[in-house]
Amino acid sequence: MFGKHANPDQDLEKQVLDALKKVNDPELHRSIVEIGMVKNLAVKEGKVSFDILLTTTACPLKAQIQKEATDAAYTVPGVKDVHANISGETLAPKVPKKTPIPGIKNIIAVSSGKGGVGKTTVSVNLACALQKRGAAVGILDADIYGPNVPLMMGLKNAVISEKTPEGKMKPPENYNIKVMSMAFLVKDEQPVVWRGPLLDRVIRQFFNDTGWGELDYLIVDLPPGTGDAQLTIIEAVPLQGAVIVTTPQDVAILDSKKGLSMFKNAGIPVLGVIENMSYYLCTHCDEKSYLFGQGGGAELSRLLEVPFLGEVPMNPEVRQYADEGKPIVIADPDSVQAEAFMNIAHQLTTTICEMGVNELLAATPV
Ligand SMILES: Nc1ncnc2c1ncn2[C@@H]1O[C@H](COP(=O)(O)OP(=O)(O)OP(=O)(O)O)[C@@H](O)[C@H]1O
Ligand SMILES: [Mg+2]
Repeated sequence: MFGKHANPDQDLEKQVLDALKKVNDPELHRSIVEIGMVKNLAVKEGKVSFDILLTTTACPLKAQIQKEATDAAYTVPGVKDVHANISGETLAPKVPKKTPIPGIKNIIAVSSGKGGVGKTTVSVNLACALQKRGAAVGILDADIYGPNVPLMMGLKNAVISEKTPEGKMKPPENYNIKVMSMAFLVKDEQPVVWRGPLLDRVIRQFFNDTGWGELDYLIVDLPPGTGDAQLTIIEAVPLQGAVIVTTPQDVAILDSKKGLSMFKNAGIPVLGVIENMSYYLCTHCDEKSYLFGQGGGAELSRLLEVPFLGEVPMNPEVRQYADEGKPIVIADPDSVQAEAFMNIAHQLTTTICEMGVNELLAATPV
């Protein structure tokens, strides 16, 4: 009466799970079941449904993963219908050593040893690239004395004029990206002469008292070097990691090493090195000239033992568009420079995923 096939759906469920185990995440090359991407698998009268948690909201390969998982489930005899839902939830690779800021999944600092290497340019373009890849993104301009993010994001004249229903400062927004900056609070001519304690307070407020809402990524544009602002952020903010921007002539290893050890000592992962102004890209013939030698950033990342996220060419358009308040990723999305930023965003999200997956695997007994 109650034979071992009393519940055929249960058998099917096991077989579908086995079939899904063979599907690998295309970037991480790990089984989607093993890394916990498949949730809520259910089988009812041969109809299969399950949720797929992506490693990141900006995952460009979600359609591919969805198709491969669906096809795999259909290979099991007896399966009549497959419904693979892409979940809104992500496989959160969090390192919550500090209390997370509610609603913000990943906080990423953009730093450099020296000034003028292109941190702000990288921050705004990276933010736009992540947004274009489908993520909810904000930028926090932590350069209190020289805030440049509003200019480059086309928010030069913006001010904080409203509060959110929760009583937080409503951040100005452009290109679907929320921005908070000291420039919204002081007028152009007023120099900011605050010292340590006040700087510390304002930075903490930018993180905690801004109505960021739900964000996948909050990009933090740091001032150069290893000063007070960096120390406050490292101490007060649950950073997912930091990226280091360098230029070929600034492969001043010492500066970058200082930055690296500042983060490492605080237990903050360095997610990689970005080389900006790597080569001159001729606007007429697209010829590349490596004025300061080739491969410096990659070499630096090897020495520092952190990933190399990519190189961005030097090109007058990057600056012109930045000055006009349009990051090149938005202004000229088909340009080589925009493509470089899109690739860097992809590398960055992959690195974050891998890091999170490794942590998850380390925490999960086999
Ligand atoms: N790839 C590039 N091609 C051409 N110009 C660039 C490029 N990257 C940055 N620039 C220009 O270089 C200047 C410095 O860039 P940016 O302000 O982003 O550097 P920064 O590291 O944020 O500087 P600071 O340390 O002062 O904050 C800007 O005028 C910017 O438009
Ligand atoms: Mg800057």
